[in-house]
Amino acid sequence: MPDLERVLVTGGAGFIGVNVVRHLVEHTTARVTVLDTLTYAASPEALAALPADRVELVVGDVADAATVDRLVAGQDAVLHLAAESHNDNALDDPGPFIRTNIVGTYVLLEAVRKADVRFHHVSTDEVYGDLALDDPKRFTEDTPYRPSSPYSAAKAGSDHLVRAWVRSFGVRATISNCSNNYGPWQHVEKFVPRQITEILEGRRPRVYGDGRQVRDWIHVDDHSSALLAILERGRIGETYLVGADGERTNLDVVRTLLRLMGRPEEDYELVADRAGHDQRYAIESGKLRLELGWQPRFSDLEQGLAETVEWYRDHRDWWEAHKAVTETAYAAKGQ
Ligand code: NAD
Ligand code: TYD
Repeated sequence: MPDLERVLVTGGAGFIGVNVVRHLVEHTTARVTVLDTLTYAASPEALAALPADRVELVVGDVADAATVDRLVAGQDAVLHLAAESHNDNALDDPGPFIRTNIVGTYVLLEAVRKADVRFHHVSTDEVYGDLALDDPKRFTEDTPYRPSSPYSAAKAGSDHLVRAWVRSFGVRATISNCSNNYGPWQHVEKFVPRQITEILEGRRPRVYGDGRQVRDWIHVDDHSSALLAILERGRIGETYLVGADGERTNLDVVRTLLRLMGRPEEDYELVADRAGHDQRYAIESGKLRLELGWQPRFSDLEQGLAETVEWYRDHRDWWEAHKAVTETAYAAKGQ
């Protein structure tokens, strides 16, 4: 596609959003507008550190058609990340997940249809449901959708809308489904930062169930570079799976963090399991690598986790306030 001069990033104040916006600033000449309603999960301070002539933050809702129509017009592309993103919250109250993830995507699709703007939809591998622990397969672009949680069902719904808008209305869209991200600015409600910050506060990491579940970890910088590759060179109407061959059990990750942080590897606690807990996610990302030449930079998960530990050590002021709220909510559930 022609040079990206103006890009709208929805959810650009969230974990992946702030990392993607920084990536766009560093690797393109685009001016970026962020549309974000600034929920509890947002970190606008991360955007404030970027050059003001390259990044503008508009506080607003992706489900608000008037705001979305106004912002989409004149963009070269929309990168859609805004979502409610945490499975545990979706189990407590699915409503916001339906509204933001499904209705918000519908509103954006109508706006890009009217303005004829290129659209990239950022989704998750969780739309495919889970794999058995002993299943030799990994997810591919052809795996049938089988979401198992309110979060993944809402993301699956949004993916279906995007595909339908491509086919029915000729919207110029692509979709990516990525595995579990880790890295700077991730909210402490999520697994990796929760455990790092538990250890930093002198407590024991808290592992759901038996901890044998498998997630396929990717550093957020590698997700960011994949998104830019797809935006620039992806084929319209296509889906690309994004993953970095980072399959580990939750116990493996916790033991690695404990070791990196100088604590005994068995110094964790098993707590109440998550309802409907997905067993295993695993991504086959050959299409993205072969077609677009993408490669992850963080091939060593332990190295990426070590850098992430250092980042959380250095950003205590940022996460401490979030942590108190999150831990109160988890304590009420015995987790
Ligand atoms: P996040 O929860 O950290 O950030 C989401 C951002 O969206 C926040 O800044 C929030 O304020 C904003 N937002 C929420 N509702 C909004 C609304 N109605 N209007 C405008 N903004 C709104 O999430 P994340 O981890 O950065 O995930 C970003 C996207 O990537 C999501 O679509 C998620 O499904 C997808 N994804 C995440 C992962 C992961 O491991 N985190 C993996 C694959 C895909
Ligand atoms: P999470 O970060 O919530 O991501 P997702 O649900 O999208 O995979 O959780 C990752 C894995 O870690 C998942 O198997 C649930 C587990 N988990 C724990 O064991 N303890 C925790 O405190 C949290 C938040 C998650």
